[in-house]
Amino acid sequence: MRKLVYYIGTTIDGFIAGPNGEFDFLPIEPDVLAAINAEMPETVPTQFRAAVGLADAPNLRFDTVVMGRGTYEPALKEGITSPYAHLRQYVFSRTLTSSDPEVEIVSGDPVDVVRKLKQEDGQDIWLCGGGHLARQLLPEIDEMVVKRYPLAIGAGISMFDGPFNPVQFAVASTRTFESGAAVITYIRT
Ligand SMILES: NC(=O)c1ccc[n+]([C@@H]2O[C@H](COP(=O)([O-])OP(=O)(O)OC[C@H]3O[C@@H](n4cnc5c(N)ncnc54)[C@H](OP(=O)(O)O)[C@@H]3O)[C@@H](O)[C@H]2O)c1
Repeated sequence: MRKLVYYIGTTIDGFIAGPNGEFDFLPIEPDVLAAINAEMPETVPTQFRAAVGLADAPNLRFDTVVMGRGTYEPALKEGITSPYAHLRQYVFSRTLTSSDPEVEIVSGDPVDVVRKLKQEDGQDIWLCGGGHLARQLLPEIDEMVVKRYPLAIGAGISMFDGPFNPVQFAVASTRTFESGAAVITYIRT
């Protein structure tokens, strides 16, 4: 069955964005990018793919992306309505009506929607964020690929933004990079 994989960049203290949704403080590390682009080129947004030599790269891991409206909105504000045109795109929102024919706006229960997607044939499903959606989808997350950057910010949007509820994962691999970042893969126990 297809897996739901939460691939995300975080601070040491588990934040994926600042208190106002800012994320430009997260460093862009060439060594991490090279590793991720080789394994999951489809996670590079469509508008940047040509610039990093991935214009025609096949999807290696994912063919579907799910995200919350808070994650979609920064692209939308830039006039980008289909940020991952090479993937099937689902945006969860109860307020957005339509955006782009390539993007499906979903208002149903995220767990039900993901369970149905998992039953379909295909590659894995990328949970792109953000913390609010990830918290609801926590029961369905099979794997996490966490890019952890060596900085602490003290406040912001948590990787899982919701009520206290400990869930155990196992570490499948840890890779450290010269830049100081680490990529840690967790799987459900
Ligand atoms: N560091 C990283 O790698 C990374 C990756 C992704 C995102 N981010 C950042 O994370 C932030 C966004 O995270 P977030 O937690 O604020 O927002 P989010 O989880 O992306 O989106 C929350 C929105 O999703 C919709 N939603 C949530 N649950 C729903 C449900 N059950 N049914 C229908 N719609 C539902 C709602 O939209 P409506 O209000 O429209 O109903 C809600 O306001 C942004 O700043 C983004 O830049 C960082």
